[in-house]
Amino acid sequence: MKASSFFALGAFVTGVFGQEGIFETAEFNITEALIENGVNVSAIPELASLAERSLLSGCSIACTSLKVIYGTQKLLSEGTSPYDAFTNGYWSVQQGSVNPRCVFKPTNTIEVSSLVLLSRLTQCPFAVKGGGHAAFAGASSIDGGITVSMENFKKVAVSSDKKFANIGPGNRWIDVYTALEKSGVGVAGGRMAPVGVPGLLLGGGITFFSNKIGWACDNVASYEVVTASGLVVVASPTQFPDLYWALRGGGNNFGIVTNFKLNAFPLGMMWGGQRIYTENNFPAVLDAIYKFATVSSSQDTDAAQIVSFGNIAPLGKIAIVQMHYAQPIANASIFNDLNAIQHVQSNTNISSLADLTIKMNEGATDGPSLRQTQWDVSFKVNRELFTFLVSTFYTNLPAVQDLSNAFPTISIQAITAGQLKGMQKNGGNALGLDAAKGPYFVMNMSSRWSNAADDAAILKFFSTIIKQVKAEAQKKGLDNAYIYMNYASQFQDPIASYGAANLRKLKAVSTKYDPQGVFQKLHPGHFKLASGPPNPHMP
Ligand SMILES: Cc1cc2nc3c(=O)[nH]c(=O)nc-3n(C[C@H](O)[C@H](O)[C@H](O)COP(=O)(O)OP(=O)(O)OC[C@H]3O[C@@H](n4cnc5c(N)ncnc54)[C@H](O)[C@@H]3O)c2cc1C
Ligand SMILES: *[C@@H]1O[C@H](CO)[C@@H](O)[C@H](O)[C@H]1NC(C)=O
Ligand SMILES: *[C@@H]1O[C@H](CO)[C@@H](O)[C@H](O)[C@H]1NC(C)=O
Ligand SMILES: *[C@@H]1O[C@H](CO)[C@@H](O)[C@H](O)[C@H]1NC(C)=O
Ligand SMILES: *[C@@H]1O[C@H](CO)[C@@H](O)[C@H](O)[C@H]1NC(C)=O
Ligand SMILES: *[C@@H]1O[C@H](CO)[C@@H](O)[C@H](O)[C@H]1NC(C)=O
Repeated sequence: MKASSFFALGAFVTGVFGQEGIFETAEFNITEALIENGVNVSAIPELASLAERSLLSGCSIACTSLKVIYGTQKLLSEGTSPYDAFTNGYWSVQQGSVNPRCVFKPTNTIEVSSLVLLSRLTQCPFAVKGGGHAAFAGASSIDGGITVSMENFKKVAVSSDKKFANIGPGNRWIDVYTALEKSGVGVAGGRMAPVGVPGLLLGGGITFFSNKIGWACDNVASYEVVTASGLVVVASPTQFPDLYWALRGGGNNFGIVTNFKLNAFPLGMMWGGQRIYTENNFPAVLDAIYKFATVSSSQDTDAAQIVSFGNIAPLGKIAIVQMHYAQPIANASIFNDLNAIQHVQSNTNISSLADLTIKMNEGATDGPSLRQTQWDVSFKVNRELFTFLVSTFYTNLPAVQDLSNAFPTISIQAITAGQLKGMQKNGGNALGLDAAKGPYFVMNMSSRWSNAADDAAILKFFSTIIKQVKAEAQKKGLDNAYIYMNYASQFQDPIASYGAANLRKLKAVSTKYDPQGVFQKLHPGHFKLASGPPNPHMP
């Protein structure tokens, strides 16, 4: 291990040196690590006498200590208006309804390190929130524990050669693109303005540029990450390469990321938007996306496409095609098939990347005013399966269509040959997609709705569609295990879907960097390495 891999955090660093391969020794002393972070443990009597405690009193002590050490600007307590403003900042009602014991807003890596150590000392569990766009309760929030908000990590800095951008996990993609525009560069990231940087990057990240360069996680040059022992390391293809591999798809299981160094590329104006087609044109739209998925996306890697199906008054059944192009060219020839189909609505134009993500988000509901759910599975690309999933969706739709504020949709997103090739970079990612067996597609589904009383019907609707489409795919030899983490519901197990070998490797990385399982037990939210779906009761 090289000294330059560590940030200077007092004498911490020496605990690791000379112990090749051992990241945290059995004698690791949390109190001493805190003292080396500048936290005077003996100044807080409750911390000094942590002999007997229950989990809840642990959180009381942890939150009180954080308030004493860092003040009320950085530590929000239940029942205050800043606390309420914070919980209202999630995308879904389900996450906004979770009440942590307190909210911590660190401003630097040492504070993040101390948070991890204090959680260990007090055994108070925590959750980490980036942009808060994960849908289900507890994904980036925690009842009775500490929710750690990364919102103060707002760095967006382009390197002088413009080949990299350092991005803090407190950014939304709109912040990133707006800042990068000034340097004439882009990065592979989210396609909707308000989505958070960290969740998208840690789960994978399907982007406008993925057919050319792979998913967002394939274009992370390095991660600065606070590990379970409070150490800050930089993981890259050459430093801690096993941790670097694990972070590309492994989610929140290995540490708290405090900086993403992303590959940047020159980017000017782009083109894109969405077009809406009526039911009579569904076969032609599906033909077009099929051709894109199997052939044309390899011929022109500047193009991206998503097709979604829903039902809106007064049009009825509609297909929404989101089409994007990484150059300022309207109707590039790769879109000829779509251009030839009569649309009823279109907002495509030449736009900046930032404006395209604002346009993608038009009509979306932000702030937790509605309940939300997302689901996905993947299959091999097959034209008949496209037809089957669309008809399965509409056959089941009457069960939920009239529920208050419901807007169920189903989408097809190809995992093209170009994307699979991009995934091979730097030793490959953790997702376990076999390029030789592609192309694949992600079938992602979602809905918003108003009433908790309708939860059961909505959730059953999606689980039913997945069951039916999976059965058909299995019959035809088109099934694929992979579940994309960032659209997965709480009833699914995306990490297990990466395959047994990758799961073993991920667990080995966890055991090495986090021998006590801090990010498994004290950071229980979202998708964990060992425990199966967050909610085992599939509706
Ligand atoms: C409207 C919308 C549009 C979307 N568009 C896209 C898209 O174009 N492409 C795509 O691939 N996906 C997309 N997604 C899915 C998106 O990638 C996930 O919702 C993702 O989790 C959002 O990240 P976040 O930071 O906002 O989420 P959060 O809810 O804040 O976090 C998600 C997970 O990441 C963990 N986490 C957060 N910060 C850190 C950190 N610093 N260190 C370690 N773990 C952390 C959390 O603990 C949690 O487990 C979209 C989702 C929505 C709702
Ligand atoms: C950890 O360090 C503190 C402070 O030096 C000391 O009081 C305590 O006994 C140590 N704990 C263990 C388990 O060694
Ligand atoms: C730590 O706190 C104790 C108790 O308040 C105090 O006596 C001591 O001087 C403090 N140490 C430092 C380094 O501030
Ligand atoms: C692009 O194609 C669409 C669909 O055929 C058409 O409506 C639109 O006018 C074209 N735009 C340009 C700039 O050529
Ligand atoms: C493109 O259309 C969007 C609305 O769909 C609009 O806000 C934007 O200004 C347009 N951009 C250009 C360059 O015309
Ligand atoms: C599927 O994901 C894409 C990209 O995040 C999004 O635009 C689309 O709305 C999603 N579809 C559904 C049905 O949620």
